[in-house]
Amino acid sequence: MKLPRLLSALALGLCAVAAAFAKPVTVGFAQTGAESAWRTANTNSLKSEAEKRGIVLKFADGQSKQENQIRALRSFIAQGVDAIVLAPIVTTGWDPVLREARRAKIPVIIMDRKIETSDESLYTAFIGSDFYKEGAMAADWLAQNAGSRTRIVELQGEPGSAAANERRRAFADALAKHTQFQMLDSQTGNFRRAEGKQVMEALLKKHGKAIEILYSHNDDMALGAIQAIEEAGLKPGQDILIVSIDAIGEAVKTVAEGRMNCTVECNPLFGPKVYDLVAKILAGEKVDKQMYNVDALFDTTTATAALPTRQY
Ligand code: AHR
Repeated sequence: MKLPRLLSALALGLCAVAAAFAKPVTVGFAQTGAESAWRTANTNSLKSEAEKRGIVLKFADGQSKQENQIRALRSFIAQGVDAIVLAPIVTTGWDPVLREARRAKIPVIIMDRKIETSDESLYTAFIGSDFYKEGAMAADWLAQNAGSRTRIVELQGEPGSAAANERRRAFADALAKHTQFQMLDSQTGNFRRAEGKQVMEALLKKHGKAIEILYSHNDDMALGAIQAIEEAGLKPGQDILIVSIDAIGEAVKTVAEGRMNCTVECNPLFGPKVYDLVAKILAGEKVDKQMYNVDALFDTTTATAALPTRQY
C-alpha cells in the first residue's frame, strides 16, 4: 500500500475508534410535573428528541413540588451530567442549588418558566414563551371582540409560577386601560382540568348569569370550565365568551366548533431548540441569554384552517 493511502486508512481507523469511545452527552431534565396536556407535549418533545440525537436523558418528574425539583437537580449534579434543563414550578428559591451546579461547572438552561434570582449568572440561558405578551394578546382580543360583554372571571394557573404571574399581570394591566371591563372573581385552578371544572362550578353558583367572559390561564382549565358551563345548561362560547392560552389541539378544535372563542399559542415543543442550545454551550459557543418563541393566536376565523397542522 502506498504511503498516503496507508495514512488515510490509519486516520479513518483512528476516527472509528474515537467515535466508538465518544461519551454520549448526558442531560438532566427537571420537569414540573404532568399537570396539563401542554406539559405532556413538552415532556414528549424533550424525550423523543433526546432519543433521536443519542442524548442520554435523565428525566425527573417534580410532581408539582419545588422540593422534588431541587432534589432532582442535586442528584443530577452528583451524577455529573453535562447539562441541566430546569422547567421551574415557581419563580423563587433556586439560588442555592444553582450555585451548587455552578460550582460543579454544569450549565443550567431554564426552560419555559422564568426564575427570579439575585444573580443572573447562575444560569446559562432561558428559553420560553413571553407569558406577559400572551396575557396581553388575550386581553387585546377581548377588547376588540367582546362587544357589550364586560363581566369577567379569571382562572389562574399554579400560584407562584411565572406563567400565572405574568398572564395575570398582563391582563390586569390591559383591564386598567379598557375600563369597561370588570373582574368579578379570580381564583386558581392550578393549570389542571379537574380543578378548572370545580372552580368554574363554584363561580357559576356564586355569580350565576353575571358571568359574561372567562379568561383562563391555560386550555386544560378552560376545557374543564366548559364542562361545568354545559352542565349548568349554558352555551360556552355564546352565553360566556372564553379566552384561553396554550393552543393545544383539543382547544383549537373547540374554538373551531365555536365552544371556545380564542386561544393564544404557547408552544411546548422545545426538544430541538433545547438540545441545539446544549450542543452550542458544550462547544463553548456564546449563546443568547434570553430566547423567546413567537406565538400565534387562534379564534373562530383561523382555528379550522390551523387544525390539520397543529403538532400538539
Ligand atoms: O408554563 C407553561 C404553562 O404550564 C402552560 O400554559 C400550562 O398548560 C402548563 O402546565
